[in-house]
Amino acid sequence: MLATFMAILPLALSINPATWIGDNLNIIGDLTLKNITIPGTHDSGTYWLSTTPMPGDTSALWEDIYKLADMVDRDAGIIAQEWAQTQDQDFYQQMQGGIRYFDLRAGWQKNTKTWVTFHFVEGSPVQYLLGNISAYLRDYPKEIVIVEMSHFEGFPTSDDITILKTMVQNTLGPYLAPVDLTFSFTINQMISTGKRAMVTMEQAFDMVNIWPPSAIYNTYADTPDLKKMIQFNNQTVNTFMKGTWPETLFKISWTLTANSETVLESVLPWKSHTLLQLANHANKALPSFDTEMKNYGWKMGNILIIDHYENSVVLKTVCGFNNIPY
Ligand SMILES: *[C@@H]1O[C@H](CO)[C@@H](O)[C@H](O)[C@H]1NC(C)=O
Ligand SMILES: *[C@@H]1O[C@H](CO)[C@@H](O)[C@H](O)[C@H]1NC(C)=O
Ligand SMILES: *[C@@H]1O[C@H](CO)[C@@H](O)[C@H](O)[C@H]1NC(C)=O
Repeated sequence: MLATFMAILPLALSINPATWIGDNLNIIGDLTLKNITIPGTHDSGTYWLSTTPMPGDTSALWEDIYKLADMVDRDAGIIAQEWAQTQDQDFYQQMQGGIRYFDLRAGWQKNTKTWVTFHFVEGSPVQYLLGNISAYLRDYPKEIVIVEMSHFEGFPTSDDITILKTMVQNTLGPYLAPVDLTFSFTINQMISTGKRAMVTMEQAFDMVNIWPPSAIYNTYADTPDLKKMIQFNNQTVNTFMKGTWPETLFKISWTLTANSETVLESVLPWKSHTLLQLANHANKALPSFDTEMKNYGWKMGNILIIDHYENSVVLKTVCGFNNIPY
């Protein structure tokens, strides 16, 4: 009897990141997306990057990347990769790790006529990322996902953007959640209807099954300074808790952003050399912030995103906000 109890105890007390939504419908099933916090990644598709600059990406950091490349005699494309990569798992692996929101940046590669993800430099075809999501939803029928498609760089025409929209519809079609900005549908309803993917697009949204960009309200501190980021998010969570934020999901970013100084200082041995290292610095500070939020009875928005997620407590943090034992 005792042995049996001991044997099932670890299972009963720890969540399975691959199935954490479906496994906890007794707790979150009757709630809506407005009532829970979903864990997500920032610049989700950067697990693989080429060294080819994305046409139309006008980030001010490019100037510093070229300056540094010149200074240390290295390839600018490789330095760009180091300051662009925020994740090291593909979308299927991220979903297995519990991630349920993707920040999918899509750029038009006009030479090859393909949509690719990017951050400074070009990454995988968007088709691969959507294919991973579709495979996951097929393999795990009680899991849901939110996808925010933005940053349509590379000077696409409206026909090119239609190609992207058609790709979303062809790849995720049966899973696309119909647009309903009242957000009154529950997680159980998403699962029972199979409409488990909420997808927003910066352009070409149709208000039928492609959601408008306004359905997600973005916030981020835009600083490499950890203290400033913590202060910013403390205020942002306070703002979130005070409002009802109709027709939108409130997104909070536990991320540090490199600036000119961060990139140029990376020649110094004691400074961060890559964006993943900068992320690790942010991620170490999440547990104590999480404890403080829980003491106030605050929740970190409807979507909480992070860099280098598997090196963080993001899943544990959101489970706490969702009253799911971790
Ligand atoms: C869920 O969110 C709605 C607003 O969308 C709110 O009216 C309701 O009280 C919330 N329910 C719970 C259990 O948090
Ligand atoms: C996910 O996408 C990657 C390419 O980015 C691919 O190599 C992998 O096979 C895909 N996984 C699944 C399960 O479809
Ligand atoms: C967060 O804000 C509260 C006041 O709203 C303040 O008392 C607390 O010290 C702040 N915490 C951090 C980590 O900045």
